[in-house]
Amino acid sequence: MFLQKNPINKLNLFENKINLQKFIRIYRWNPHIQQNPWFSIHPISLKKCGPMVLDAIIQIKNCQDSSLTFRRSCREGICGSCAMNINGTNSLACLNSLKIKNKFITIYPLPHMYVIKDLVVDLTNFYSQYKSIKPWLINKLLPRREQLQSRLDRIELDGLYECILCACCSASCPSYWWNQEIYLGPAVLLQAYKWISDSRDKATNQRLKFLNHKMRLFRCHTIMNCSKTCPKNLNPGKAIANIKQQILHI
Ligand code: SF4
Ligand code: F3S
Ligand code: FES
Repeated sequence: MFLQKNPINKLNLFENKINLQKFIRIYRWNPHIQQNPWFSIHPISLKKCGPMVLDAIIQIKNCQDSSLTFRRSCREGICGSCAMNINGTNSLACLNSLKIKNKFITIYPLPHMYVIKDLVVDLTNFYSQYKSIKPWLINKLLPRREQLQSRLDRIELDGLYECILCACCSASCPSYWWNQEIYLGPAVLLQAYKWISDSRDKATNQRLKFLNHKMRLFRCHTIMNCSKTCPKNLNPGKAIANIKQQILHI
């Protein structure tokens, strides 16, 4: 008896093979060579690479182009260093799977930040803004040792303490794009709200007075890109709204 091979199976095999290969398109810029920014394109076999976008970038650096520059450390969404724009969304490369429908994965540095090289952006302004909100416990009455909280007071910090300062939210906020020298941006404001909400901190009024400024805080126009993009599923837009609310009562 003549058995004909099922052409659909053949097609599936072919499609699987295609899906096992991705092309990573990476924005490149090197200040030491006189050249405009360009894209480098790198084929990656999913069979020979770890599951995440960061694995692919590390493999590209190790096996294809050692000059590729990017930040990374923990590779598990804790340190915030691998923040970049992946297929149009600011996110963490170590939390983004390579197994998506698109054959091409396009990577840019965080938008509207000064690029130092390739995917590394200058966070000097971001960190000096962070410093400006005094990100430490202010309470002269407490002795210098571990400070306990009630369970209810501790719950107030949920959704705030998890922020890893990756800057994905700030780099997605149009108000921050245009005024980043003076507007503090969603990441720093969420951090400020964390200290305002902490029952152990006694500088709430001082903190609110510092934030009560038309540029530092009120440049937020509730666009909410920040909350949509946060890779830790936090809600900086809500934190900002809460600060505005509290300012009404000082
Ligand atoms: Fe990153 Fe989210 Fe914190 Fe913004 S709020 S810095 S996106 S972890
Ligand atoms: Fe920007 Fe978020 Fe406000 S996107 S304008 S910080 S709500
Ligand atoms: Fe630490 Fe991605 S490497 S968050």
